[in-house]
Amino acid sequence: VIEDRDKWNQTYHNQPPKRGTSPIVERFSGLATGRVALDVACGQGSNAKYLADEGFTVDAVDISIEGLKSLKEHAPQVRSLCVDLDVFDIPASRYDLIINIRYLNRRLVPQMIEGLRPGGVLIFETYLLTGEEDRRRFRKDYLLRENELLHLFLPLRILFYEERSEPSESTPGTVASLVAMKPTFR
Ligand SMILES: C[S@@+](CC[C@H](N)C(=O)[O-])C[C@H]1O[C@@H](n2cnc3c(N)ncnc32)[C@H](O)[C@@H]1O
Repeated sequence: VIEDRDKWNQTYHNQPPKRGTSPIVERFSGLATGRVALDVACGQGSNAKYLADEGFTVDAVDISIEGLKSLKEHAPQVRSLCVDLDVFDIPASRYDLIINIRYLNRRLVPQMIEGLRPGGVLIFETYLLTGEEDRRRFRKDYLLRENELLHLFLPLRILFYEERSEPSESTPGTVASLVAMKPTFR
């Protein structure tokens, strides 16, 4: 979506990376047994950089060239791609780890499942639509419903799931987190 691209380019322009590594990525990325990772909607790439520092070979994709510029500066070893995830397809059976933090694109759900190698790990965390206020302030399509994330990834083995409040002025106040593994046989 063009407005999203422009909005995020503006946000990231001349702004040092704001967000540190996500605690859920630090906590669970070690579950991956192989070392090929994908960061979906990586933004300025602090998680992608963390994974690269942990020894992963990382592909990182985002629509914002400004975010990717900052990632290239801080982690040149990450393979970054400027793509529109409304049309980009995740390659099948390639990744030992896929992370998706603070972004929602339901079209990609089956592709994420297919994109994992058997035994591969998914770490997914983003905002929930909980109240009237969220309904007015944020685009509803970009917010999860209660328990939706859990349902989306039921073909995987769910290792961790929670919905928690995270009070903030600028983002919706509830976050859902999921960690799941692709079964080694089906
Ligand atoms: C809230 S930020 C999260 C960034 C990063 N995952 C993090 O946790 O810091 C959402 C990201 O989604 C990206 N994005 C939004 N729409 C996109 C699209 N259609 N294709 C690719 N990236 C998109 C934005 O550029 C932005 O970097």
